[in-house]
Amino acid sequence: MRWYSTFVAAVSEVTAGRPLPPAATAAFESLAGHVLPTIDRNGSLLADAVARGLGRDRVVSNAAVLLFGGIETTEGMILNLLWHLLHHPGLLAAVRADPDLLPNAVEESLRLEPAAAVVDRYATRDAELAGAAIRRGDPVTVSLAAANRDPAIFPDPDTFDVHRPNSRQHLAFAHGPHFCPAMDLARLETLIASAP
Ligand code: HEM
Repeated sequence: MRWYSTFVAAVSEVTAGRPLPPAATAAFESLAGHVLPTIDRNGSLLADAVARGLGRDRVVSNAAVLLFGGIETTEGMILNLLWHLLHHPGLLAAVRADPDLLPNAVEESLRLEPAAAVVDRYATRDAELAGAAIRRGDPVTVSLAAANRDPAIFPDPDTFDVHRPNSRQHLAFAHGPHFCPAMDLARLETLIASAP
């Protein structure tokens, strides 16, 4: 958690145009000191990836990305679901009476409060979207939170509906080549944390 907090603070600094704090370099070296030896362990999946061309420094960078991907997102996902269950007694009773509804409750929670409200993308070609001209290379901020409440896809979109037939159609884990690789792990963690 110390590494993670240091990286989060560093990202805020760099994003604001300030220099990388020395604490971040020290935290990255400390992370590397733990991650690099695991590459050479017998049967390590990382060894396989390195043999296929993934640089050892990239392995450490990806470990840092995993901290970003896996900590606050899942915390938020579990807490949002519990908040909904505890604030809507009817919902809690329904899930208690039929625990098979829990996976759909997880999806509804993700749909209504995705951990990443927006993702950034760069247009790969010129396009026109809802009357807006987008040129190749333009940065585009995509609101996953808005897509998840699109009334054309989710009728009565602001309602937490545990019986919604298409709740898994949300975009909380994004879409395309950089969609969340851990979406099923995150779902499983949330199911385990909230199981009756
Ligand atoms: C509620 C839980 C989670 C949500 C809502 C979530 C959401 C997302 C989203 C929206 C992206 C795409 C970001 C982008 O394109 O800019 C993403 C990427 C990623 N997520 Fe998750 N995530 C969750 C949990 C996790 C967990 C538990 C891990 C790891 C253990 C993880 C690891 C990653 C990684 C490594 C990426 C980058 C993938 C890439 O760039 O190719 N995520 N996640």
